[in-house]
Amino acid sequence: MLLLRRCLSLTRFGPLNTQRSQVAPTVCAAHLWSSSSSSSDDQRSNQHTHGPSWRHGLAGLLAGTGAVLVYGLHKHKAEQADANRLEAIEPTSSHPIFSQEEVTKHRSLEDGVWVTYKGGVYDITEFVAMHPGGNKILLAAGGPLEPFWALYAVHNQEHVLEILSEYKVGELSAEDLKKQQDVKSSDPYSSDPERHPVLRINSLKPFNAEPPAEILTDNYITPSALFFKRNHLPVPQVDPASYRLSVEGLPGGAMTLSLEDLKTKFPKHTITATLQCAGNRRAEMNKVKLVKGLNWGIAAISNASWSGAKLRDVLLAAGYGPDVAKWAHHVQFEGLDKDVTGTTYGSSIPINKAVSEEGDVLLAYEMNGETLPADHGFPVRVVVPGTVGARNVKWLGKIVVSAEESNSHWQQNDYKGFSPGTDWDTVDFKSAPAVQELPIQSAITAPADGAMVDRSEEEVTVQGYAWSGGGREVVRVDVSVDGGKTWQVAQLRTSDKGQVYEPSPPPGRAWAWKLWEVTVPIPPGAKELEIICKAVDNSYNVQPDTVAPIWNLRGVLSNAWHRVTVKVREDEDEE
Ligand code: MTE
Repeated sequence: MLLLRRCLSLTRFGPLNTQRSQVAPTVCAAHLWSSSSSSSDDQRSNQHTHGPSWRHGLAGLLAGTGAVLVYGLHKHKAEQADANRLEAIEPTSSHPIFSQEEVTKHRSLEDGVWVTYKGGVYDITEFVAMHPGGNKILLAAGGPLEPFWALYAVHNQEHVLEILSEYKVGELSAEDLKKQQDVKSSDPYSSDPERHPVLRINSLKPFNAEPPAEILTDNYITPSALFFKRNHLPVPQVDPASYRLSVEGLPGGAMTLSLEDLKTKFPKHTITATLQCAGNRRAEMNKVKLVKGLNWGIAAISNASWSGAKLRDVLLAAGYGPDVAKWAHHVQFEGLDKDVTGTTYGSSIPINKAVSEEGDVLLAYEMNGETLPADHGFPVRVVVPGTVGARNVKWLGKIVVSAEESNSHWQQNDYKGFSPGTDWDTVDFKSAPAVQELPIQSAITAPADGAMVDRSEEEVTVQGYAWSGGGREVVRVDVSVDGGKTWQVAQLRTSDKGQVYEPSPPPGRAWAWKLWEVTVPIPPGAKELEIICKAVDNSYNVQPDTVAPIWNLRGVLSNAWHRVTVKVREDEDEE
């Protein structure tokens, strides 16, 4: 209340009308800001009363700083209907006119919290102050509400608009309203697909997000909706009927393939392969010293089954043979996603990987048994198993067999490792090779850092993932709960619990991660446990123990021992 009083005294328009306080706060909170797209009352009450999954979803949505700011991914069908209804509710416009500049000044409880919606200006300071968690709404303060509501249907309800209308304090100037509309319609990200709200968003435009670590290893095969998403540019919209893949650089000129050609003229292969972003676990490098790049946690890695034609088969059909092998060293890939200058995403891999029978490089059109989702490269992406995510080019438009590496920015000036002593003044990107195969990696997904374990449980179960690049198989994961003094060997699995253990992959073709688990006694007297994991692959590569010696200015290849600290809660009667 103190806060509310302070807000009211600071709000330019003074106390708000009494009608507002008659609106049940839970209704306001749920409907103005809920992440659910449900509109039925039954579903709503379910969300409030039983919804661990709903709460989880909401928490995931609200926790990522920009999660609720997802911009116009799909124009809401009822947009026009909303506008009409809002007009019907508040037909008069005797309100003062405000410029966007004036609205933008109201971005805090101290200055008042204003938002705009379809040309109206709303002072929602009181709402924010009254509702626990209302401070998340501050993310929208000073700007339009539409982006918050673009993804969800909840705003398409009369009473929500009615609640909002009671906070109206003015109109946005016609000039600024037009600017807002222009920005919206010229937004290159406006046709990006809808995403699962539980994803932790690292950047909205382009869209980059990872699943919450605590659910990452719930499934051996990551559901596509939860698979981490790493986009550098807007997701291109590709018509599968007119889609053409061009294969160039081989004798006989370019070969052009339709999606149908890829599906019918080449045998379909399926592999299970883990993709990992070069920046996975970058957040840990940031703690040592700031690096440039998205602050990925431990979940910029996921595992899927991929189906499609083998790149090798396509290259052979296009004319690859011993003569070409004499001069060709690389296979370049170009995406259909473009920046404002028309430059496309591009990358390349060594030709040996591309043409080797054991390389298993796919031109994938299916992910987890379904059509490739838009975020993951519809209609066709390259899957280069064992190789850094960046080379797995999505929305594939062109393949070029070449003596040279791709000259794209992402091959030449990014995704390279440097000494911890190299800084942005001294770095020479030409001096380092492009990352291809990734090093051995593992991380703990449960318990979470900062969690509590009960002494009465006597044991703690630790879970996580482990994977190595280049098809090297993870052969062991060591886990310590006492900061590395003693170690236990975890149990590894390559399928979900209750399923038959898959046979070991052929040597050199271990493309998929292993999930692991170990239950360890809680050491007597310990008030806190430092839990550590480290993996070993079949080349006996091990992870480095600390981050500092592998720190690099781009924060890539972060694979030090993963550590989490948990507190031990003593039984009350023992205290
Ligand atoms: N391909 C295109 N065309 N555009 C991209 O931005 N990002 C790359 C790669 N392929 C990218 C791309 C990077 S850096 C990674 S880590 C993977 O896609 C991520 O794949 P995912 O989004 O399917 O997880």
